[in-house]
Amino acid sequence: MTAIAIGTEAHKELLCRTFIDTHRPFRPEEIQWPDLDAGSLARLKALPIWNEAVKTESETALKVQTLGKVEPDPVLAEAIALQGYEEGRHAAILRLLTQRYGIAVEPFDDSEPPRDPVWTFMRTGYGECIDSFFAFGLFAIGRGSEIFPAALIDIFEPIMQEEARHILFLVNWAAYLRARTALPRRPFFDLRRAWKIGEELVGHAIHAAQMGRGGGESEVGFTMTSHAEFGDVSARSFLELCLSENERRLALYDERLIRPRLVPAAVRFALKILPRTRSADGSGEPARPS
Ligand SMILES: [Fe+2]
Ligand SMILES: [Fe+2]
Repeated sequence: MTAIAIGTEAHKELLCRTFIDTHRPFRPEEIQWPDLDAGSLARLKALPIWNEAVKTESETALKVQTLGKVEPDPVLAEAIALQGYEEGRHAAILRLLTQRYGIAVEPFDDSEPPRDPVWTFMRTGYGECIDSFFAFGLFAIGRGSEIFPAALIDIFEPIMQEEARHILFLVNWAAYLRARTALPRRPFFDLRRAWKIGEELVGHAIHAAQMGRGGGESEVGFTMTSHAEFGDVSARSFLELCLSENERRLALYDERLIRPRLVPAAVRFALKILPRTRSADGSGEPARPS
């Protein structure tokens, strides 16, 4: 496969086409929610994420949809609007789930559309790069541990894959914008992007610390800290699983597109300095989803 130059029309076409062509059409109302036994229902209700998850997905949908409406390039606008639709669908699915299983969600005020849709999308997108990386590992542990029925897990499989498409789109879109920025202005672009990523990293670290102390409710902190709740999973096993799941999910798409690198690189570094502990079976191997 011939390489593609970042920032070219061909790159833009490829990143948008890949996104649009891999969209799965379905309506949230068509989802068949399985009946849950008392134990599964109690575990589902006890997950400390529902308020935050519904609110975050609704807010993300508005942010992405706003950029979809103002983006002047028709191909980019189509892909971004589609991503906004998918985020709105995530929010709708979570609302249906909470209604179906009797999970109370606190009402929240509608947020205002972002004043700077491009840089809001940038920040939100890099935040998703962090969330999705850990969510991929957590989802694999959830499937392997069978603490929720497969029928429920299966409903969320396409949503996980949508998030993989979102972060693939984001890093390519950001690289495209950077390459289209005039050389003298590129350092400012880099600085501003680094600032946005830094804001997200700090926000995530605070959420993770709050969850670690057992305080508050946070979808973000949950994805980063809750692996141990799903059984005997060490931090090393969890991070290795996140890495392999991240690779597996992103491997489905055109190899000429660039991949999210920041979080996987940070985690590979963390794995170098994390102490090795023996797993429960004594093999030293990470827990794998079945
Ligand atoms: Fe989402
Ligand atoms: Fe997303």
